[in-house]
Amino acid sequence: MALVKIPDSSGNTVVVRKLKDGRLMPKFDPEVLENVKSLKLREDDVIILAYPKSGTHWLFEIAQMLKLGTTDVPVVSKSDFMIEYVKQDILDAKPLPRILNTHYRFHDLPTDIHTKKPKILYIRRNPKDASVSFYNHTIKLSKYYEYSGQFSDYLRLWVEGVDYGSWFDYVKEYEEVCQNSDLDILSLEYEQLKKDLINEVRKISDFLELERNEELIKDISERCTFSSMHSRKGHLTGLADGQSIMYRKGDVGDWKNWFTVAENEWFDEVYKEKMKDSNLKFVYEL
Ligand code: A3P
Repeated sequence: MALVKIPDSSGNTVVVRKLKDGRLMPKFDPEVLENVKSLKLREDDVIILAYPKSGTHWLFEIAQMLKLGTTDVPVVSKSDFMIEYVKQDILDAKPLPRILNTHYRFHDLPTDIHTKKPKILYIRRNPKDASVSFYNHTIKLSKYYEYSGQFSDYLRLWVEGVDYGSWFDYVKEYEEVCQNSDLDILSLEYEQLKKDLINEVRKISDFLELERNEELIKDISERCTFSSMHSRKGHLTGLADGQSIMYRKGDVGDWKNWFTVAENEWFDEVYKEKMKDSNLKFVYEL
C-alpha cells in the first residue's frame, strides 16, 4: 500500500498508491481502497461504473435527478458517493436512494453486487478523449500527483494504466460482463449522450423503471448539459487557477487538439493490438 513514483520517459514522476496486488490507484485512504470487495450494498442502490474521465459526474447527476424525480436536487459531490473513496459508515449515513460510483474493475467490485443485484449504469468514452481528460485532471491536481510532465509523456503512462489500471483491460472486461453476466446493467457511451441527451436520459429512466414524464426528461436533459453542470457544480471539486477540475470542456474529439499525427498513428496501432479479440464498436470513430 506504499506510495510509488512512476516515471515517464522524460523523467517526471506521478505519485500513486500501489495496492497489495500491484494495482496502481490514486492516493486515497488505503483501508478504503483495499476493502471495496466487502462493502455492503443495498438492492435499491444505483451504481455507476466508468473508467476515469468517461462521464461519471454526468451520469451521477442524471441518475440523481431521475431517482429523486426532480431537477431540484442537492448540490453534492459525486466523490462523496465513490466506493473506493468513502468509508462504509459514511455511505450508510447518506440519504436514500443512493447513487454510488466507482472506477474499479469488475472483479474488484463489492461481492454484494451478485446478491443484491443493484441496477448498474456503465459508461465508456473514446479512449483518446479519456486520456486527454485524465492528463488535464492530473495536471490540474499536480500537487496531489506531484506530476508536471507533457501530454506526450503522460499518454504512454496512461496506456500502461498508471492510475486505476489500463483502459484496455477495463473495457474488455466490462464488454464481457455486459454480454454474459446476469447483472442488471445498462451500457452507455459518452458520445451518444452528447449526440442525443434527451433520448439517453429517457433510456436511463426506463432502465431504472421510473416512469418519469416527458417534461421531466426534457428538464433533466437541459439541466445536465455541460454548461449547466459546470456553472452549478464546478466549484465543488475545487478550482485550479480558476478552472474547474472535474468540468473542463465536455467535448467529443478534443484529442485532435492534443495528439500529434505520429501519436495518433501509434495509438491506433496500440489499440488494434490490445483490442484484437474485442468486438467493441464506438459511436464515433476513434
Ligand atoms: P473533459 O476533460 O474532456 O472536459 P468523469 O466525470 O468520469 O471524471 O469525466 C470527466 C469528463 O466528463 C470531463 O471531460 C468533463 O468535462 C466531462 N463532463 C462532465 N460533465 C459533463 C456534461 N454534463 N456534459 C459533457 N461532458 C461532461
